[in-house]
Amino acid sequence: MDNRMILVTGVYPVGGHLAGWRHPTAYPDIVMNLDAMIDLARTAERGKLQALFLADGNAVRQMDKTALFEASAPSDRPASFEPTTLMAAISQHTEHIGLFATATTTYEQPYLLARKFSSLDHLSGGRAIWNVVTTSYPGDAVNFGGAFPEKTDRYKRAREFVEVCKGLWDSWAADAFPQDKTTGQFLDSGRVHTLDHHGESFTVRGPLNLARSPQGYPVLFMAGQSESGRELAAQHADCLFSVAQTKEESIEVVRDIKGRMAKYGREPHELKIIPGVRVNVAQSRAEALALYRELNALVSPALGVQYLSSMVKEDLAPYPLDGPLPDLSAEVNGITSRRQSVWEMASRENLTIRQTYQRLLAADDTPPFTGTEAEVADELEDWFRSGACDGFMLSVPTLPLGLERVVDLLVPELQRRGIFHDDYSGATLREELGLRVPSNPHFTPQMV
Ligand SMILES: Cc1cc2nc3c(=O)[nH]c(=O)nc-3n(C[C@H](O)[C@H](O)[C@H](O)COP(=O)(O)O)c2cc1C
Repeated sequence: MDNRMILVTGVYPVGGHLAGWRHPTAYPDIVMNLDAMIDLARTAERGKLQALFLADGNAVRQMDKTALFEASAPSDRPASFEPTTLMAAISQHTEHIGLFATATTTYEQPYLLARKFSSLDHLSGGRAIWNVVTTSYPGDAVNFGGAFPEKTDRYKRAREFVEVCKGLWDSWAADAFPQDKTTGQFLDSGRVHTLDHHGESFTVRGPLNLARSPQGYPVLFMAGQSESGRELAAQHADCLFSVAQTKEESIEVVRDIKGRMAKYGREPHELKIIPGVRVNVAQSRAEALALYRELNALVSPALGVQYLSSMVKEDLAPYPLDGPLPDLSAEVNGITSRRQSVWEMASRENLTIRQTYQRLLAADDTPPFTGTEAEVADELEDWFRSGACDGFMLSVPTLPLGLERVVDLLVPELQRRGIFHDDYSGATLREELGLRVPSNPHFTPQMV
């Protein structure tokens, strides 16, 4: 395990708490507000964070849950930029930070997607990250003319999709475009490879109409944690956005997923496991807790129950607010890991529906690390040094305040402890994250 942790944070300015956007310090206007996102990106870069994250979906969600729809849950994003175009814009206002765009293998086409991410990698000077998702929200299917595919089919398509993209990214040798004015040779026709893929879901001839990008392939992030999700990550992911409530659970995720890599010819260090954590850091613990109280007071029980229902993919309105959750142990055609971790937490701690949503308002389904920079750093350091992860996906309750506190309080503390880098040093994001730049199997010598 690398001795420097990876820190990633979200760039969607609603904040991680359901009422985060209503805090007095939050941006007054966040709908399609590029300036707010650039401001967050620059703050994150000031703190030397390695990447900016933007989740995504392809539908307006929760229209049947009026309270939740009108309140705009952080994960629903009724007004959100398309991630690759947004990250291309942000790339022009930042220099080092990785740009993490989510795109789904369930509805995209590999040729178009490979082009977009290769473009982003060129435009950003080697900072593109593709968050490979299979989409967990059944409602997105209404915009693509068909039924929501079963999870096994989504993952089957995802595997072929990723393989086609990798094949397309290997279309050109890095020195394929001599652009020699004297001879008139623009490109070297011996330095291009035609993929000619004929598979179950895709037929793609190639080659890709972009030169090889600085990272060869963008960094591949994945998120699913079912059996199929773990296998796909073990085979193809550079980083996994994982979900774990406790350090022990996270150690188990690391052990399980890294243990699957050998059969794909990969070493454990080639996959970085990055669990999501909710961080509320302040100059005193009392100040951090006061922020949660202030935000929780803005959420009614009706809204809280709808929030929890959407998270666990089960309508909880018919159940007593102060009674236990119904049995949620069955796998559903959505996010297995999220539903199960919430259910396990509620069962373990005997929480009622009200207590569960109140807990999740502060923590979502991720561990809430709350307190001074020393207290929060103790938790992060403990997870990191115990082998529970390679870094963290940080979510903060409200923006920009939460991120400013991370940058001004938490980052210096982690640097003092020698577990977070002092500055960027890699030529590309892959180097920054300690990941291999993939070699192009079709051409030697390699000039990637
Ligand atoms: C932490 C996390 C973040 C995710 N982010 C997205 C996202 O932004 N967009 C999306 O369409 N799906 C997202 N997904 C859904 C996954 O790609 C996948 O479809 C889902 O988790 C179901 O697979 P699983 O049962 O293997 O977890 C996310 C999943 C997890 C666990």
